[in-house]
Amino acid sequence: MFFFISIAAALCAISGATQIQTQDAALEDIVCKEYNTYYKIKGSCDSYVECTAYKATYKTCPDGMYFIRDVVWPTYPCAYPSDAQCDDDDTPQQAIASQDCKNQYGFFASPLATRSDCGKYRMCVAGKAFEMECSMGLAFNPETGRCDWPDLVPSCNADEFLGFKCPPATYDEFGKAYVVNFSIPGSCHYFFSCMENVARLLLCDSGFLFDSTVNRCVDATRVECHEGR
Ligand SMILES: *[C@@H]1O[C@H](CO)[C@@H](O)[C@H](O)[C@H]1NC(C)=O
Repeated sequence: MFFFISIAAALCAISGATQIQTQDAALEDIVCKEYNTYYKIKGSCDSYVECTAYKATYKTCPDGMYFIRDVVWPTYPCAYPSDAQCDDDDTPQQAIASQDCKNQYGFFASPLATRSDCGKYRMCVAGKAFEMECSMGLAFNPETGRCDWPDLVPSCNADEFLGFKCPPATYDEFGKAYVVNFSIPGSCHYFFSCMENVARLLLCDSGFLFDSTVNRCVDATRVECHEGR
């Protein structure tokens, strides 16, 4: 009798779970229910089971990367923490630190970065560190592991980093701050845009150049601009 009940319960569990691509698997009962798929390992951020032709193989992402919960086979199922999730009740594998990297893979704060030079970051590949720089005008955010607007990065002094401070904002009749563009002497492509005292360095789309007479990007053929540097 008990046998039949547990079979029924198992069937229910299977039919309820087939909608989702990945599901939690406990180590001891890994059964491939689909021909090719991935299963997340319960309690782990970076371990998973890969099923190929109903054959289960236990795998772990490279140190510093997490399993992507909604990944669809055969996409590579590991990604940097900025693109994959590790839940509060899950833990990653024991970190394999090297002299320069706290994980084998990932993007980390660089010791070369300062509050006024916040575009620098460190990329680790197999425990080897490479010093990198965000695109112009962007600051590395150690909390998200990505390049971000400097005003969104607490460890960055945006004004000093950009070398530009917005003049006090002006407001329309509804109390909404005006957005104002500022040209940069010697640059035809870049300009500063101020949104309520927050400055961001922007780049005109390709084929456009910044026209300081109208303070916006215009068709490149319609603006005379000589790049100084
Ligand atoms: C600032 O420049 C951008 C890019 O050309 C433009 O879309 C925007 O309208 C400009 N803003 C103002 C207030 O001129």
